[in-house]
Amino acid sequence: MIEVEGLRVVYRDVISVLHGVSVSLEDGQITTLLGANGAGKTTLLRTLSGVLHIYDGDVLEGSVRIDGQDVTRLNPVTIARKFGIVYIVEERTVFPQLNVMENLKCAASSRRDREVNRDVGRVFELFPALTKRLSGKAGYMSGGEQQMLSIGNALMTRPKILLLDEPSLGLAPILVREMFKVIERINKEDAISMFLIEQNAAAAMKVAHKGYVMENGRVVLEGTRRELESNEDIKEFYLGSGSGEKKDYRQAKRYKRRKRWLG
Ligand SMILES: Nc1ncnc2c1ncn2[C@@H]1O[C@H](COP(=O)(O)OP(=O)(O)OP(=O)(O)O)[C@@H](O)[C@H]1O
Ligand SMILES: [Mg+2]
Repeated sequence: MIEVEGLRVVYRDVISVLHGVSVSLEDGQITTLLGANGAGKTTLLRTLSGVLHIYDGDVLEGSVRIDGQDVTRLNPVTIARKFGIVYIVEERTVFPQLNVMENLKCAASSRRDREVNRDVGRVFELFPALTKRLSGKAGYMSGGEQQMLSIGNALMTRPKILLLDEPSLGLAPILVREMFKVIERINKEDAISMFLIEQNAAAAMKVAHKGYVMENGRVVLEGTRRELESNEDIKEFYLGSGSGEKKDYRQAKRYKRRKRWLG
């Protein structure tokens, strides 16, 4: 459904961040993208959603195609309207001055159908914690509650594809588990495809159909969930359950990655 091919992206004409990235997302699936800080994960989402230029970024080469159409340089509003793509940024954007209900209604304000209330009900069903915070301003809610609400706001636009940038960031472990359960439910029950950016590899891989690992602006590994889960490097460096001795972690990491992934 989304095909990214050979994407090269720079910021401010000089800072080269993506060096030829190719990924593909299938309809109905959760695809995860793992990678350390600065790998270029967020940059890829900015490119897919069309907001890259707001950050002074440019696509030098390569393309993004959605359902066969080239959208590489389309504006974000067109991408969202035409293809139902919603990008939930890392910074958890809610309307801080509005309460929960106002947030959800506001997010649905461009809709003309009569099912807005039903969808509000669906958001509360997925995130019951939000029903306890109906009166206060969203800006005063906890990080976890704001994350739930930002996903709720996204759902109110009836998206086809959600781009999620580290939804588990900063959440307590119990909330992380809850969050991924809900992500899986939204995918299955509401038939929404997802591109899930995560540093929490263990949690992301439990719900994803397939995944990519990115390092320094390149995809260094890709595979189905099963392939990734059984990969020794993934086990060792992302799942913390490898069998090898870890004497000099950094050196071993560099060496093994080069050897196995970059050939
Ligand atoms: N607007 C910008 N201008 C210049 N450089 C930028 C800009 N945004 C990001 N970068 C740089 O691009 C590189 C990739 O950043 P990006 O945010 O895409 O990585 P990331 O994988 O999402 O990292 P993190 O896990 O920390 O969120 C980093 O070196 C970052 O400093
Ligand atoms: Mg990021």
